[in-house]
Amino acid sequence: MMNIAVAQSGGPTCAINASLVGVFKEALKFSEIDAIFGSINGIEGIIENHLVDLKTTILSNNDMELLRQTPSTVLGSCRYKLPDWNEDVETYKKIVNTLKQRNIGAFFYIGGNDSMDTVNKLSEYFANTGLDIKVIGIPKTIDNDLCITDHTPGFGSAAKYVATTMHEITRDSIVYSIPSVTIVEIMGRHAGWLTASSAVLHAMGETAPHLVYVPEVEFSKESFLDDVRQQLSKHKAVIVAVSEGIEVPEGVQSGLVDNFGHKYLSGIGKYLEDVVRSEIGCKVRSIELNVMQRCSSHLGSRTDIDEAEAIGAAGVRTALSGQTGKVMVFRRIEDMPYTVTIEVADASDIANKEKFLPKKYINSAGNNIRDFALSYFLPLIQGDLNLITEQGIPKHFALHESVLK
Ligand code: F6P
Repeated sequence: MMNIAVAQSGGPTCAINASLVGVFKEALKFSEIDAIFGSINGIEGIIENHLVDLKTTILSNNDMELLRQTPSTVLGSCRYKLPDWNEDVETYKKIVNTLKQRNIGAFFYIGGNDSMDTVNKLSEYFANTGLDIKVIGIPKTIDNDLCITDHTPGFGSAAKYVATTMHEITRDSIVYSIPSVTIVEIMGRHAGWLTASSAVLHAMGETAPHLVYVPEVEFSKESFLDDVRQQLSKHKAVIVAVSEGIEVPEGVQSGLVDNFGHKYLSGIGKYLEDVVRSEIGCKVRSIELNVMQRCSSHLGSRTDIDEAEAIGAAGVRTALSGQTGKVMVFRRIEDMPYTVTIEVADASDIANKEKFLPKKYINSAGNNIRDFALSYFLPLIQGDLNLITEQGIPKHFALHESVLK
């Protein structure tokens, strides 16, 4: 008999808890697995021996369904960069102490490319020190920037939120007879996947977003102003999607970075709003979708949530088959009918690497998304969640505040 542990890391999404449910539900099926521990605040909980027994926390099928629908990370999260073991073996000793003390034979880490660095380092350390503890990565990120996998859990729900919200903004923006520009700032760090996904509205016959700017294309203020003027000559209300990761010579970021050296990105929408106001002079607003795009499960994609659960479950089977240092990935077989398989990749091929929006998805002017690319995005946003509500509000599954740091 062995126990297992699962942790969640990095920026929240709507689907991370569904992957946790996938791990939990699948583990219940195996008689060789006894306790299922949840580590609080990602790997930090393992280092500090701060774990909760999930079997005494998730008590029923109702709890599992509620957790599946709950956005963000029920166990808390971290942006903790695990040092190399030859630089700081003490931290590794603490990790091993917790895992041994709790008789943990497999550890599942739900996270993005930074978290897969932890999967890679831990599995190498365990192999080098002769410890039989399996480490498996379960992908997630709204940025959709993990290599090898066709897409990442969390992205589909974020894309559905972004497109739906932009659709609603479009309705609002066209009510007046005066010309206007609305700039919507979208997350995604250095990758334009989520910003590009807003173009799915074109598949419904909408002309918005009229302009789409992604970090994969060098940004020019002059070209942007030309683009906006041209669109204003055709449309009364111009809707612009802009990625938070666009760089401008003036620099709009605070300069603050996280433990991985990633800048906290925010403010490009406001900057472009000021540019339009001063150079064009029409009515202009900017909207930063901010954290709503990664935690709005009321617009969650059923496809995304189902896949997130399935890939968590597949992670358990992979560990029990004896594999370690692996990340579960999706391989797309077809767009229509949408079919994917779940496969296994080496964590070293995913850790710290980024996958960018293919250049072929971007139009020749570098300011919108080509129609053929929509068949990549559309399957990922299909289906709705049958939300459990209370007082008319979607209900959430949450640990008691005192459990979280
Ligand atoms: O990596 C996911 C992400 O949501 C990015 O899109 C965004 O730039 C970043 O996290 C925000 O970081 P934080 O959660 O620290 O605000």
